[in-house]
Amino acid sequence: MNTVMDSRAIIKTENLWKTFGSNEVLKGVNIQIPEKSISAVIGQSGTGKSVLFKTIMGMMKPDRGRVWFQDTELTALGPDALISMRKHFGYSFQNAALFDSMTVGENLAFPLKEVLRVKDRGEIKKRVEELLEWIELPGIEQKRPDELSGGMRKRVGVARALMMRPEVLFFDEPTTGLDPVLSETINKLVVRVNHELGITCVMITHDIPAAFRIAGNIAFLDQGHIVAEGTPQELTNSAYQMVQDFLRISFNGMQV
Ligand SMILES: Nc1ncnc2c1ncn2[C@@H]1O[C@H](COP(=O)(O)OP(=O)(O)O)[C@@H](O)[C@H]1O
Ligand SMILES: [Mg+2]
Repeated sequence: MNTVMDSRAIIKTENLWKTFGSNEVLKGVNIQIPEKSISAVIGQSGTGKSVLFKTIMGMMKPDRGRVWFQDTELTALGPDALISMRKHFGYSFQNAALFDSMTVGENLAFPLKEVLRVKDRGEIKKRVEELLEWIELPGIEQKRPDELSGGMRKRVGVARALMMRPEVLFFDEPTTGLDPVLSETINKLVVRVNHELGITCVMITHDIPAAFRIAGNIAFLDQGHIVAEGTPQELTNSAYQMVQDFLRISFNGMQV
């Protein structure tokens, strides 16, 4: 079995702290994301999972600690260098903020034009077309986001993140608010992103059975710390009470 320590970490945090006023959210988080894995971060609501993602991506500055992407310490970089390194990351947040005033095609072209500064209109058109085909929504370039269903919007959000050809794709609760069938579509998309494109996927999810099915590595955040981390099997063996309670409730009494 491939455990966290066996494979190379593409992202690593060291003693990450983040406090808002008197609210100590991250209290020394150490996490390693194995390269080309699907990893899941789970834990109760409000424990700091999204804050952890934001500090890793450099969208939020930790009070203390380090974040590494491959051999680069992101927390040691100045603003320009950080922005440049962030091109390796894509993210799909819960409210997949598509621009409602733009068509789907324009939404997808946006990161290419504005971030990567691609000028060749033919190339942009081709990449938008290819990616829409890849997410199995061919030909919807001219549609507006509000004409799409929730599940379609979500897939377009993922496609937009993929336009940048990131090495790591972060998903913050990609299936929250979707019905079980749509959730499965999104989970399958995460698996395809990982298997077919070789992109490391890190997701925060409340869907524990899905995390157990698709993630090779699961980290449990509680009280500001990663209290359990490893393969799904390793997590079920955790002696930490909250992990045990969480898994028991999530699997509704089923044997895991
Ligand atoms: N920008 C912010 N300013 C102040 N407090 C914040 C901010 N972002 C998150 N928090 C607080 O940090 C805690 C963790 O939030 P969050 O990471 O969103 O939790 P989770 O994603 O695990 O549900 C919460 O108490 C939240 O209120
Ligand atoms: Mg969150």
